[in-house]
Amino acid sequence: MKGVILAGGTGSRLHPLTRITNKHLLPIHDRPMIAYAIEAVVKAGITELMVVSGGTHAGEFLRLLGNGHDYGIDRLSYGYQDKPGGIAEALGLAERFVGGDRVLVMLGDNIMERSIRHIAENFERQDKGARIVLSAVDEPAHLCHLGVPELDGDGRVTRIVEKPNDPPSNYGVTGIYFYDADVFQVVAELEPSARGELEITDVNNYYVAQEAMSYDVLDGFWGDAGESIDAYYAVNDFVRAHGANKG
Ligand code: G1P
Repeated sequence: MKGVILAGGTGSRLHPLTRITNKHLLPIHDRPMIAYAIEAVVKAGITELMVVSGGTHAGEFLRLLGNGHDYGIDRLSYGYQDKPGGIAEALGLAERFVGGDRVLVMLGDNIMERSIRHIAENFERQDKGARIVLSAVDEPAHLCHLGVPELDGDGRVTRIVEKPNDPPSNYGVTGIYFYDADVFQVVAELEPSARGELEITDVNNYYVAQEAMSYDVLDGFWGDAGESIDAYYAVNDFVRAHGANKG
């Protein structure tokens, strides 16, 4: 399985911090944010990785990560997104790198307390399709900023609603996604959403409609450090006190 870390976007929710750098290079405790996503992917057993960035600070990722060997990566590739076309469009840029293999896609601003290795192993045991990772979220005001799944109580996702006014469950879809090789065909056939982007939730709903979507629920803390300044500091406080990606 290959790993793709998405680290583009304008970071507008963290302005003005992100006027002078890419969001994923801002510090979380003692490292730049993206280092945690890389550690999560490497600890999941994946050593071939692509980082997709964009905008004016993309060169800094090369300065930080180099050939990736210091991070436990065997082969590190870089992709560049010309325009902010959405998470699914950024994933499409990794097609040739993934080359018919399975892929773990991770948003570079997501940080977890615990290792996701067992979830990668669950996906390896899955015949085909996709797997998403959920986190219990109690506050409806927070769910409104996320993708939220509707669950049938029998282990199935029946749909995912992006940024719902009326959340269909108390779970958020985290930015950790597992896909089979069909995903690039799905991305190629997507239509842009109302905000003009190719949405990862549309990719996920394709797999839901095929009855090929599974999920796991995370143990421990999960944070999207790019969601707001408050979320950024909440993630910083958590990681400083408790660490991240623990075995
Ligand atoms: C994206 C996804 C959303 C998911 C979130 C997790 O939202 O579209 O479904 O819940 O990441 O971090 P964004 O952060 O781009 O608004």
